[in-house]
Amino acid sequence: MNENLILNTFEKKNSRVPVWFLRQAGRHIPEYHLIRKKKDDFINFCLDENLIIESTKLPLKYYELDAAIVFSDILMIPWAMKRNLKFLQNHGPTLEPMIPGETEILKNISITTKLSSLKKSIFTLRNDLPKHISLIGFAGAPWTLACYMVEGKGSKDFIKTRTALWNSNKWFMELIETLIFYISQKLELQAKAGADVLMIFDSWSHMIPNNFFKVCAIDPIAKIVKILRSRKIFSPIIGFPFKAGSSIVKYSYESQVDCIALDWSVDLSWANKYINKDVVIQGNLDPASLIPKKSEYLYDNVLSILDTMSDKNFIFNVGHGLTPDCKMDNVAKVIKIVRSYKR
Ligand code: CP3
Repeated sequence: MNENLILNTFEKKNSRVPVWFLRQAGRHIPEYHLIRKKKDDFINFCLDENLIIESTKLPLKYYELDAAIVFSDILMIPWAMKRNLKFLQNHGPTLEPMIPGETEILKNISITTKLSSLKKSIFTLRNDLPKHISLIGFAGAPWTLACYMVEGKGSKDFIKTRTALWNSNKWFMELIETLIFYISQKLELQAKAGADVLMIFDSWSHMIPNNFFKVCAIDPIAKIVKILRSRKIFSPIIGFPFKAGSSIVKYSYESQVDCIALDWSVDLSWANKYINKDVVIQGNLDPASLIPKKSEYLYDNVLSILDTMSDKNFIFNVGHGLTPDCKMDNVAKVIKIVRSYKR
């Protein structure tokens, strides 16, 4: 049984459902904090070849997973674009906010040069990891990166970004186009270095006004997929339109992704009925269900996900990233249930 189950999922139904977790390499594992201490600054941490390798491998030391996600951050592109990114402790990221209409949107950055350590670490990881473990490379989606770049930080409603979109649409779409270019470069770099699967996180897609969903969330992803395919990169691509609600249906038909990661609010029976049948589904356990020390619902809920998806090409995952307070015992328990599920 040394097949790469996640890659197989794109060809045929597997004997067993593959499983991995969004943000599996982060702070819910105490040992991560020890590794993290090796650098003061999170950006320098994300630029260190050995620390990327060590953090990417960390969850595999504790869990029987089918994938490793390369340790990095979606904001490394705005960092490369010189937006003065800072991760302040307990504060989330801050950046130099872009002023709508700002004349110069940086267009002459070489992502390959700026992220050369990411490339080297992926190359080493792909050689080190067993072949049956998929190595997942990723990037943030254009809309989500634009949200951080315009707002200058996280936000609960991204009102500045939405105002910019309505007010200075030509400029905003130019920013989206520039991001499409850099995101494609970052994904290409990762695939060429050895990542088997690529994932695009649109964490703020639920902040897109409905009439702009196609131009901000679907068309940019379709363009990225087209660019990658034209550069002979045929790795499966997972799209994650977080909390996009019914727009997920259109996304599944038009974004050209091979797999849709569903957030924890999506009813899987609804998804099976309406989502493009040619697209693999990944998801969607609520990561909050992994926080209580003992949850009477956890087992039943995992089983219900597996039962609903039993005759589908499906990848088990959480419906958003694991938070620092998720319990390792719960993660291990879920993996055990998924791996022993017979379909
Ligand atoms: O396990 C993994 O998947 C590790 C790789 C990874 C990180 N960030 C490491 C990280 C991945 C895939 C991400 C993606 C990411 N980063 C997203 C998309 C996923 C999502 O949650 O919606 C987003 C929106 C970001 C932006 C970001 N990075 C924020 C808002 C923050 C601060 C708040 C937070 O969640 O911690 C980060 C910092 C960050 N990225 C940390 C880690 C482990 C914590 C920093 C630290 O350990 O010092």
